[in-house]
Amino acid sequence: MTAVLPTSRAEAAALDAADPLAPYRDRFELPDGVIYLDGNSLGPLPRGVRERLARVIDHEWGHDLIQSWNTAGWYEMPRRLGDRIGRLVGARPGTVVAGDSTSVQLFKVLVGAARLRPDRRVLLTEPGNFPTDSYVAGSVARLVGLDLRWAEPEELVDAVDDDVAVVAVSHVDYRTGRMHDGAAVTAAVHEAGGVMSWDLAHSAGAVPVALDDWNADVAVGCGYKYLNGGPGAPAFTYVNRRWHDTIDQPLAGWWGHADPFALERDFRPAPGIARMQVGTPPVLAMSALDAALDAYDGVDMVDLRAKSLALTDLFVELTESRLRPYGVEVEVPREHALRGSQVCLRHPQAYGLVQALIARGVIGDYREPDLGRFGFTPLYLRYVDVWDALDRAVAVLDAGEYLSPEYQVRAAVT
Ligand SMILES: Cc1ncc(COP(=O)(O)O)c(C=O)c1O
Repeated sequence: MTAVLPTSRAEAAALDAADPLAPYRDRFELPDGVIYLDGNSLGPLPRGVRERLARVIDHEWGHDLIQSWNTAGWYEMPRRLGDRIGRLVGARPGTVVAGDSTSVQLFKVLVGAARLRPDRRVLLTEPGNFPTDSYVAGSVARLVGLDLRWAEPEELVDAVDDDVAVVAVSHVDYRTGRMHDGAAVTAAVHEAGGVMSWDLAHSAGAVPVALDDWNADVAVGCGYKYLNGGPGAPAFTYVNRRWHDTIDQPLAGWWGHADPFALERDFRPAPGIARMQVGTPPVLAMSALDAALDAYDGVDMVDLRAKSLALTDLFVELTESRLRPYGVEVEVPREHALRGSQVCLRHPQAYGLVQALIARGVIGDYREPDLGRFGFTPLYLRYVDVWDALDRAVAVLDAGEYLSPEYQVRAAVT
C-alpha cells in the first residue's frame, strides 16, 4: 500500500516526527550537513564501532594477546556473526557464517552448488549482474565444466529447464533496483531440479529476506553495505541446512576442517555451516561488523520495509515532478513488490551530476553508463533528507553546475 506522500517540507518533517524508526538515526555518526544516499555502497559509521575496535586493540590484542582466541570469543566469531546476520535474512541459527569477501563466498557457494548436480550442464545467470557475479560464474563454469547461460530477469524462470544445475542471481539488481520474488524463483528452480543461489548484497538489512522460508539452497551477501560493517567488511554465506552434510566447497582450508587443531594430514569437512570457512578470520574487521550489527537490534523489518518504500516513492515522485524538465529520468520499478531500496536517475551527464551533488552534500554514486544511484537506508534517513536532496538537485541542474570541468574528472572509485 502506498503511504500518503508529503507535499511540503513541513509535511515531510511531520512524517519524521511520527516515524517509529526515527530514534535509530542516533545509532550512527553522520557528518553535519550531509545527506547520505550511498549506504548501499558503504554504510556509515555506527556508534559503538570506534569504542569496540579500541577495546579489541588495547585489551584483547594488546594485552591478552593470543589467549583472546579463546577468552574473547574470536574463534566463534564467524559463526556468531553469521547467526546475527541470519536474523536479518530469515535464516535460522547455524546456517550463516561470516568471513572472506563476497566474491570469494560466491565462488565457494557456486562450485559447491554445481557439485550438488553433477549430472547437469548449465549455470544460468543474468547479463545485468554486478560484474563480480558474472566473472565468478564464468570461472566456476569453466572449472566444473558447465555452460554459462544468460537470461534477463523477466525471462529467468522460463529459461530454467532440466539442463540447469544452478541458477545464480542477485535478489536486488545493483543498477535497476529490480527485486526478484525470492520464494517464486526458488520454487521454479527446484521444480526443474536445479539449485538456487542468491546474492543478497543489496538486500541484507534493506528489504525483507526469508531464506529458510524461500527454501533457498545457498546465498551470499556483503558486510559493508546496508550492514554498515566498514570498508571491506567480511561478507557472509548461507547454506540451507539440508546441504550441510553434502556441500563440497572448493576452498578446503583448515578452518573448514572438523577439528582444525588436530592438524590432520587429510581434510575432513566440519559438520554444519563451519565447513564453508577457509582460513583465519580477520578479527579486527569482524569486530567492527559485530558492533555495527548492534544498529539493527530491535529493528522491525516490517517498519523498515514500509519506510524504505515511502522514501523511494517520495524520491521518485519529486524527481518526476521537479527534475524531469531537466532531462532526468527515473530508473526503478514502480511496483513495490519489484523494488529494492534504491533509485537510479538517468541523465546523459550523470557523472557530473553526481559530483556536483556531492559538492552540495548529497552523496550518491555513479554507475556506467549514465546512472546516478541513490540508496535509501531507513535507519538513518529522514523524509526531510529526501526533500532537501531534491532541492539541492534542482539547484545543481538549474545552474548547470554538473557541466563544470572539475566534475568531469573520473576518480578511481566512482
Ligand atoms: C551484487 C554484488 N555482489 C558483490 C559485490 C561486491 O563483491 P566484493 O565484496 O567481493 O567486492 C557487489 C558490490 O557492489 C555487488 O553489488
